[in-house]
Order: sequence, then structure tokens, then C-alpha cells
Amino acid sequence: MRLDKYLCESTELSRANAKKCLHRGEVTCDGIVVKNSAFKVSDDCEVRLLGELVKARGLRYIMLNKPKDTLCSNVDEIYPSVLSLLDIPKAFSLHIAGRLDADTTGLVLITDDGQWSHRLTSPVKVCGKRYRVQLADPLPEAQAAELIELFATGIELKGEKSLTKPALLEILSPTEVLLTITEGKYHQVKRMFAAIGNKVIGLHREQVGVIGLDSSLRPGEWRYLTQDEIDSV
Ligand code: URA
Repeated sequence: MRLDKYLCESTELSRANAKKCLHRGEVTCDGIVVKNSAFKVSDDCEVRLLGELVKARGLRYIMLNKPKDTLCSNVDEIYPSVLSLLDIPKAFSLHIAGRLDADTTGLVLITDDGQWSHRLTSPVKVCGKRYRVQLADPLPEAQAAELIELFATGIELKGEKSLTKPALLEILSPTEVLLTITEGKYHQVKRMFAAIGNKVIGLHREQVGVIGLDSSLRPGEWRYLTQDEIDSV
């Protein structure tokens, strides 16, 4: 990795300020002053800034319990970005793996590992996402088996030619269901229920792959993923 990028990723410095420190001769690599921003930092190189050891921060993997009225976006807009809930350096340089609507709550995964998030969100990899859904209208009990079959076969969404991929519908009560889907089409869950003439009035993501939302996290709280959770993707 380039030295200016290493400094920027491992400290509070912006890239421009990292370059200034370099030009002022404040940075050493294995005891030698390096002024070249493009200097390649090897894995075992000891980098110091004004004599203080600068440890490589490494990649970050986070789960967050998204509250309502926040955005899965890298900028604050009409609502604040979920990234503003992370009280860590350079939170806005992270990215969100799989977005939720402003009014959807629950599990959001955030990282700076592009390959990892690609494995989570790529349409060619099958990764189930389970949602707890509250419905405006009760599902007719007599049609339960038919509906489960319909969701398993695929639903025609408005404006789409192909059917949705097989989804698992679990009916908990006439107005509460669990739905597991493997795709991430725009407003997919809401559109699937709209296609059967119903309306989603509450949507909460509980699980992505085998990573379940930690029940100890209240809305707006987050934690780093465990190594097992990271390796599960
Ligand atoms: N499906 C939706 O309709 N909204 C979400 O936020 C996620 C899935």
C-alpha cells in the first residue's frame, strides 16, 4: 500500500495532511525518513509519525441495528446516514453492503472490504436475507398454503419481466410473516406484497446469510463482527 494511503487509513489524517506530514519529514519507515507519498509500505515495515508507531488499522466489519428515518447512503440527506451513528474515525469512508429503505429497520452490514461486500450482494452468490414483515391486511388463513407456494415459485413484480427468485414465506400470524429472499431488487419486499394486493406497514431485517442481528443491540447501536461472522461470508 502507498505510504500516504497507509497514513490516511491508520490515523485521523486526511490524504492531503498525510502528504504534508511526509513533506515535512515527520514520517519514518524502519527508522528512515521517507518523503515520497508513493513509497510502498511492506507488511513488516515499521511506520512512525513524529516518532509514534502507526499501526495498520486493517479492514473493518460492522453490524448495525438501523433505526427508522435513517439512510443507507454515504451522505446525510433528508435523514442522516447510518454511518453518522458510528463513532469511529473516518466512518464515512466505509460502505454499506445491501441497503435498506429509510423506513426499514434492522440489520445493516458495513465494511471497507470491497470483496467481502461483493460476496454478500452479488446476484450470482446466493445469500438469504430474512425480513420480519407487518402487513396492513390479514392474510386469509385458507390461502396460506397457496401463498407459500406462490412466494416459493416466484412473483411477478410491477414493471419486471422475470419472476422473483424462490422466497421462503413463514406465516406467524395473519398480519406478521417472515420472508427470506435471495435477491435485492429495489423495494423488493414491499413490491412482492403489493403484487398480491397487500401493503407492508413494518419491515425489519433480522438476518443476512448466517449473520443474525444481535439482540443486545438497540436501534442505532452497532458492534464489530466476530471472526466467525466475517468468515461466514
Ligand atoms: N425490501 C424492501 O421493500 N425494502 C427494504 O428496505 C428491503 C427490502
